[in-house]
Amino acid sequence: MKQTVATFHVNEETYEVAICSNVTLAELLRDKLGLTGTKEACGVGECGACTVLVDGSPVLSCSTLAVAVRNRRITTVEGLCDGEALHPLQAAFIEHGAVQCGYCTPGMLMMSKALLEENATPGRHAVKEALGGNLCRCTGYTKIIDAVLDAGSKMKETSK
Ligand code: FES
Ligand code: FES
Repeated sequence: MKQTVATFHVNEETYEVAICSNVTLAELLRDKLGLTGTKEACGVGECGACTVLVDGSPVLSCSTLAVAVRNRRITTVEGLCDGEALHPLQAAFIEHGAVQCGYCTPGMLMMSKALLEENATPGRHAVKEALGGNLCRCTGYTKIIDAVLDAGSKMKETSK
């Protein structure tokens, strides 16, 4: 298949990549850019593991063609921390034991980041709703929800 060179803005870096039109965003991130933090599990848009942000909104990277998001602002889990400092969501996931096998974690974090940007003080129900499409086989979800609520209140405190 013919390749075209496209520009991608990922985590504040710009990449020029030769890709075929059928390459997914997950494949671009993992295989072409080496950003393997984004996980692909079901591959068919059912589990949320592959969630990344495009212009701040959550997108399933397994079900999105890379060429469809060229020139847009893509954020992956690698772009969450600030240098060595973890994002409050990452710190809260660790603190609350919300990471077990970790496979769902990048998608959970990115979906939670989108939620907290839209609603800085979500209630438990809002967190459950926002994460409703993100499946976890390990944690039973309670610790993940606790972590998001805790991160939200800590972020609110520090923004005062
Ligand atoms: Fe994309 Fe499951 S891997 S939704
Ligand atoms: Fe294993 Fe969520 S921590 S799938």
